[in-house]
Amino acid sequence: MQLDTLLINCGQLLTMDHESDLVKGEQMKVLPLIEDGAIGWKDGVITFLGTTDETKELQCNNLIDCKGKLVTPGLVDPHTHLVFGGSREHEIALKQQGIPYLEILKKGGGIHSTVKATQEAGFEELLEKAEFHLKRILSYGVTAVEAKSGYGLNRETELKQLKVVKELQKKYSMIMASTFLGAHAIPKDFEADGDRFLEEMADLFSMLKEENLAEFVDIFCEEGVFTIEQSKRYLTQAKEAGFAVKIHADEIVSLGGTELAIELGAASADHLIAASDEAVNMFGSTDTIAVLLPGTTFYLNKDTYANARGMIDGGGAVALATDFNPGSSPTENIQFIMNLAMLKLKMTCEEIWNAVTVNSAKAIHKEDVAGRLQIGRQADVVIWDAPNYQYVPYHYGVNHVHSVFLNGKEVAK
Ligand code: NIG
Ligand code: FE
Repeated sequence: MQLDTLLINCGQLLTMDHESDLVKGEQMKVLPLIEDGAIGWKDGVITFLGTTDETKELQCNNLIDCKGKLVTPGLVDPHTHLVFGGSREHEIALKQQGIPYLEILKKGGGIHSTVKATQEAGFEELLEKAEFHLKRILSYGVTAVEAKSGYGLNRETELKQLKVVKELQKKYSMIMASTFLGAHAIPKDFEADGDRFLEEMADLFSMLKEENLAEFVDIFCEEGVFTIEQSKRYLTQAKEAGFAVKIHADEIVSLGGTELAIELGAASADHLIAASDEAVNMFGSTDTIAVLLPGTTFYLNKDTYANARGMIDGGGAVALATDFNPGSSPTENIQFIMNLAMLKLKMTCEEIWNAVTVNSAKAIHKEDVAGRLQIGRQADVVIWDAPNYQYVPYHYGVNHVHSVFLNGKEVAK
């Protein structure tokens, strides 16, 4: 068999090749891997997976000796706000004075400040900026990513954001999922009439579907933003229009967004810092994935983190994401999220790797193309400067990536 590239002596090769494309509860403790593994591909497609011993007969153009390093599938970041104008470092002082996130939002700052900058930015400017952040995301070992709109809050700018995602999809072989988050805040010109604003956003559904500009619809269900009733009505309409749905649920105040996500059969319920104990227990009997974003708890400077242990021990499926955005989590670094998951969410290293591969791929409906290494799949592979998989969640605050292969081609070092 002739290969383009063959990696040998992969100390641990995490294939993540579970029988199921969603791992829940106890299954999250299982980590499918090959010791002293090898992986090879041709024309960007994986054609060999096995041990180094089994590679003797293989021929290849590019042989890479991994010298015992960890090798994994490209990671999946299932929750980002990738496309936005400006930045919010001018709010640092407010943050340091302890002014709450929702208070800053109410006063016209926070999301509203980014909306203004995003409305003012031209398409090319937004594209260039999103591309910059996307490349940085990739440099941390992420090869599949979800991107939300939500900083337009009007037809024109929401479309501009979604078209930027589409353009990036064309330009890169990175796997991307696009989410319409028009329901991210109520713009000032709607004078707190959330119902009227949601109707306006829902009017976009059929066009977004026709032009294939979004796969998911999301809403910020939060005190002072959108209520449970509004979220239920809006997401039901979204489902009727053919979208899968997600909710920014119970991020700050416990409103019951987690229960609503499960009731609606959402692909994921995201944040869940303030989810009730009942909601935590419900994950065992649903395929809705709990997408946890501990970087946000960290950056909002909260003491309480989402109850990941309760969700997993109760039989649920957990995924992890950066929530990359200019306000509550300005970081592209998924590895730091893995560190936080180890330290603050008390997730085991096995659970963490499942949460950033298989489950995160499933949370954005990319389970057939991302999150696992299998023959016939696109070769999205990461070599890590790490002797084993525990090392990455353990050694914090640095980038452990040695190289990233996207569609079989090396893109970052
Ligand atoms: O996931 N909470 C709502 N949306 C984002 C933050 C957006 C922002 O502050 O710009 C989040 O935390
Ligand atoms: Fe978010």
